[in-house]
Amino acid sequence: MASSPQVDTTGLQAIVLGNVAGCPLVRHIVLAVPEPEALRRFVASLYPFLRFGSNLPAEGEKAVINLSLAAPALKQVLPVDVYAKLETAFRDPPDAERLGDAGASAASSWWEGQFTGDEVGAFVHLFATDDSALEAATAQVVQAATDAGIPELHPRAGGGRLDARYLAPGPVGKGARLHFGYVDGLSNAKVAWDGAPSDVRPVDPRAVVLGYNCDSFPCAPARDPAAVLFRDSSYLAFRWIYQDVAAFERFLTEKGPPLFPAMAPAVAREMLAAKLMGRWRDGTPLALSPDAPAPERGDEAFTFASDPIGLACPVSAHIRVMNPKGERLSGMAATTGIPQVVRRGMPYGPELAGDRDDGVDRGVLGMFVCASIREQFMRLAAWATRNNFSDVFPAHGKDQDTLIGNRAVPGATRTFAIPSAGGTGRVDALPDFLRTKGTQYLMLMSRRAMQQVCGLD
Ligand code: HEM
Repeated sequence: MASSPQVDTTGLQAIVLGNVAGCPLVRHIVLAVPEPEALRRFVASLYPFLRFGSNLPAEGEKAVINLSLAAPALKQVLPVDVYAKLETAFRDPPDAERLGDAGASAASSWWEGQFTGDEVGAFVHLFATDDSALEAATAQVVQAATDAGIPELHPRAGGGRLDARYLAPGPVGKGARLHFGYVDGLSNAKVAWDGAPSDVRPVDPRAVVLGYNCDSFPCAPARDPAAVLFRDSSYLAFRWIYQDVAAFERFLTEKGPPLFPAMAPAVAREMLAAKLMGRWRDGTPLALSPDAPAPERGDEAFTFASDPIGLACPVSAHIRVMNPKGERLSGMAATTGIPQVVRRGMPYGPELAGDRDDGVDRGVLGMFVCASIREQFMRLAAWATRNNFSDVFPAHGKDQDTLIGNRAVPGATRTFAIPSAGGTGRVDALPDFLRTKGTQYLMLMSRRAMQQVCGLD
């Protein structure tokens, strides 16, 4: 394998580089497909405000703006032969079946019925330090879109936008809570941008940016001038995911105590939550501390190599399915390895107190940055839908990621086996904890790609 490239990060958009530091608020503004001239005008007026090369607001700034384009917009401005070289999965509508979006998550219900993915031209991603900065940046973007004659699309039936904000921070100052109460942001991939080995789970830049196609990191455009044009750009899979917090909390209350009868009910609930995720809700990995939380160990490295049957961490727990490090992979997975994505999601909606549903929309606006939608994002979604990539799973391969699996997928089992030294506990009717409300594939162009594609000087 060729040694990993040194990427000139000064041309990357902020989302690719990291969670936008110091900005607890995010807004995604969705725009319709523009005429080619309108797109050029819009990008030209927004361009001075786009943040490349840093994920920090510049001094005195309180907002960071990024822009990603959907396939129908790029189709307007690219030569036919160049457009045809973009990844097929990006150009096609999301394949809801392969993503496991069955039943209530079916594509027909996405975007609250307000529009379909092929009407989307662009997402503008605003990160802000406070509400007034968010509104000011919004006004700037809306003005630029209006001046260019590009209509905004509203993904909520009531006309609202997609806004997200950090919930409470995690214990010991690391990460931030998601709905369901888990801390996120402990293990996120660190990209080895300078080609140098890193101490924390380094991700090869070729898994994140285009233009460095090779056997181990295939991407499209693969080579020739189209690959040069899109070098250092990334694909972005945007996923609007509703979380049923009431169902989740009731599940813990009902199933936790009978599964772990020796524990006090409150402790049994927490143990079941940990078995679903592979981490205690404070972030402690079960692989390191299977019997009790130890939050100061949240960001320590670990593998599942010494736990082949899941005594500490069940084999279908979320983080084990998404990153089965140290596990022997089978079938095609043995060749492709573990897909890497850079996660930049943020929770939306108010926290729910208790376990009675209040009918309010809440969940996570997931952003998965990668160099191949098909090989990385879609493969992870397929792994969550069918646990069939390692011999640690039952041979039928129909178990699912316990947390994010969609139980309406035909043939999927709803069982969850929790092995322990004293025998295997079992849940027979795993509920759906999530519902997909939208999926959009986008392109986060590098500075140079944006200049060339949109005809900026
Ligand atoms: C509402 C839905 C979801 C929730 C609540 C959730 C929550 C989490 C949490 C708490 C972690 C551990 C974070 C950490 O170690 O700091 C995690 C890890 C991860 N999740 Fe999710 N997730 C969700 C959906 C998804 C989806 C849809 C995907 C991809 C298709 C995904 C992919 C991953 C990956 C790759 C990791 C990293 C695993 C590791 O390296 O240890 N997640 N998720």
